[in-house]
Amino acid sequence: MSTLNPPIRDWPSQRVWIIGASTGIGKSLAEALLARGARVAVSARRADVLEQAFSAHTNALRLPLDLTDVDAVARGLDQVVSAWAAVDLVIIMAGTYSSIRAWELTAELVRETMQVNVYGVMNASALLTQHFLKQRTGHLSIVSSVAGYRGLPKALVYGPSKAAMINFAETLYIDLSEKGIGVSVVNPGFVRTPLTAGNKFNMPHLIEPEEAASQMIAGYERGEFEIHFPKAFTRQLKLLRLLPYRWYFKLIKKSTGL
Ligand SMILES: NC(=O)c1ccc[n+]([C@@H]2O[C@H](COP(=O)([O-])OP(=O)(O)OC[C@H]3O[C@@H](n4cnc5c(N)ncnc54)[C@H](OP(=O)(O)O)[C@@H]3O)[C@@H](O)[C@H]2O)c1
Repeated sequence: MSTLNPPIRDWPSQRVWIIGASTGIGKSLAEALLARGARVAVSARRADVLEQAFSAHTNALRLPLDLTDVDAVARGLDQVVSAWAAVDLVIIMAGTYSSIRAWELTAELVRETMQVNVYGVMNASALLTQHFLKQRTGHLSIVSSVAGYRGLPKALVYGPSKAAMINFAETLYIDLSEKGIGVSVVNPGFVRTPLTAGNKFNMPHLIEPEEAASQMIAGYERGEFEIHFPKAFTRQLKLLRLLPYRWYFKLIKKSTGL
């Protein structure tokens, strides 16, 4: 069976830009790709944290920027292209999460979350799509979440933002794959990172960021459209997607104790 995306295997020839790389999954992924010989550019808002994260990797190109600042992302892209002549894979990893329930919802939280997880990702994708079309090659990878599969407790704004990004990536794929541009969506389960550090609930099938990074690399190597992990967890959630609401709500409430 043919793969949905051109498989990426020859890492030493790859020029990769990770937006959201100073901590968590992005940092582990950058380290794993550097170890495989890829050229890697790393971005995040806090320049000092980014610098510290890659102090042992002088070859990583540091580009501190805010994903929500379209002009800064455009400047970042220019810097990557002037350093390497082209870019092969861009991973939009940056995201924000707040664990809230219905009665804690505020307009400010909606704005903060959507600004990064939706507008930031879509605006950067617009720039990157134009660039990849001009280049006639490239791969855009959007990190979403299994929280986008269906409504889940404590993912009140986060879940919808990630559901939107799954749909967005699917639609980008439909338009861009025929033009030779790769598009993938990454849906992790729970990963131990600063993003989930504040969670007070049990996180089933929690994995380390290094494991998440190696699952992502394996997904790119297999040319997958949806890269999801850990499979023991994501397959259960995929099955839950098929249930009628009456059963789904009952099961979710029972399994989360809410
Ligand atoms: N951890 C999980 O269990 C899990 C599960 C499913 C999906 N995900 C998704 O995976 C992605 C990475 O999450 P993580 O757990 O690795 O989180 P993390 O450790 O908090 O890392 C987020 C990274 O993105 C950067 N960032 C955040 N907002 C940014 C912005 N506006 N512009 C540029 N960079 C920004 C952060 O640095 P600065 O703060 O310095 O900018 C940091 O480098 C997120 O999209 C998240 O939703 C995570």
